Amino acid sequence: MAISRIILGVTGGIAAYKTPALVRRLKDRGVEVQVVLTRSAREFVTETTLQAVSGLPVRDNLWDKETEAAMGHIELARWADLVLIAPATAEIMSRLASGSAPDLLTTLCLATEARIAIAPAMNHVMWVKDAVQENRRRLEERGVHILGPDDGDQACGETGPGRMVSPDDIVASLLGPAAAHPVLSGKSILITAGPTYEAIDPVRYITNRSSGKMGYALAAACQEAGADVLLVSGPVSISPPVGVKVLPVQSAADMHAAVHAHLDGADIFVGAAAVSDYRVADISRDKIKKSGDDLSIALAQNADILASVAALSDGPFTVGFAAETTHLREHALAKLEKKKADMIVANLVGKDLGFDTDDNAVDVYWKGGEQSFSKRDKAMLARDLTTLIVERHLEHSHTAMTAELPATMVRD
Ligand code: C5P
Repeated sequence: MAISRIILGVTGGIAAYKTPALVRRLKDRGVEVQVVLTRSAREFVTETTLQAVSGLPVRDNLWDKETEAAMGHIELARWADLVLIAPATAEIMSRLASGSAPDLLTTLCLATEARIAIAPAMNHVMWVKDAVQENRRRLEERGVHILGPDDGDQACGETGPGRMVSPDDIVASLLGPAAAHPVLSGKSILITAGPTYEAIDPVRYITNRSSGKMGYALAAACQEAGADVLLVSGPVSISPPVGVKVLPVQSAADMHAAVHAHLDGADIFVGAAAVSDYRVADISRDKIKKSGDDLSIALAQNADILASVAALSDGPFTVGFAAETTHLREHALAKLEKKKADMIVANLVGKDLGFDTDDNAVDVYWKGGEQSFSKRDKAMLARDLTTLIVERHLEHSHTAMTAELPATMVRD
């Protein structure tokens, strides 16, 4: 059975500092990760970090009424396809072997029917002790999957068996090796993200509520899939994904210019930015002073970046976004047609979805097809959208290629 939901139990060893990286690797492979900390694990790694990387509140307490009400520990034990304990101390091995369940993690291990895997990590003298080895054997006999430990330098300055297996190796043993040829390898992708600032005067501007999270998540997902990604980004307060080049811009006009200056060779263009449709027609050189009860500012329409890219004769595959408050389908299909984009990703804004939130639900439209994605966190959604973009892009390139061939050479 494919593993898509893992409970990651973190116990109190120095190797716990590697668990945020482990969570990232698992998430990169599309796995949902619920972290469960033991009390001593908190001495080595913070709940804040693990919550940020996993995208789920960390669980640590069997007696917390609020978290138990949201998903009780029995339900959580059934939710998982696998319980992974990394690092696993001598103490947790002993508890698992004896079947004692004084806290949430050990209770989950008893209550689950899912497979259990542990990655032991401890001082090498502890690891070879009879008591620990006896527990290891008992666990193995009961079907617990033991990963490692590795042999080598230890945090205590000594050398020997007891190092936790690396996050990459843990993921490879549980899920198999990552695909050797990422689907977007060799592809170049240009993504716009964030809002634009349209200056009124030297101190004021018009903007919108975009946080940039969706565009940044897409950049991360495309990069994970092997693409060379350039983000043309309006002003945001989030950090770009590691390895993604960012070109910061302010206004819609700046964004338009930056996009067209870097479009050469791009295979895919994703317009995830919430571009201001209008700019101030006449930006005041000096700060506008308060005078009178009303103030009117004339606006002029900005060029449509997405439409201008879609209009290029040998341009990239184009993906646009449509954030709407009503009539999602109608507006999205109208945009697909008007802007001549290859795909439109549409979402309702308001009701805790869309702008400035961590979750999003979208409907995607293209000529002759559509697909809905229910509410999920933006990182997960970005991976799902990337898969669909790759599929549609391949289909589109195939159609374009066969259209150019003489009819006798085209086969089904
Ligand atoms: O028309 P609307 O602004 O709702 O269209 C949204 C889509 O068009 C987004 O993909 C956005 O990035 C893009 N857009 C653009 N240039 C504009 C306005 C919108 O590229 N001036």
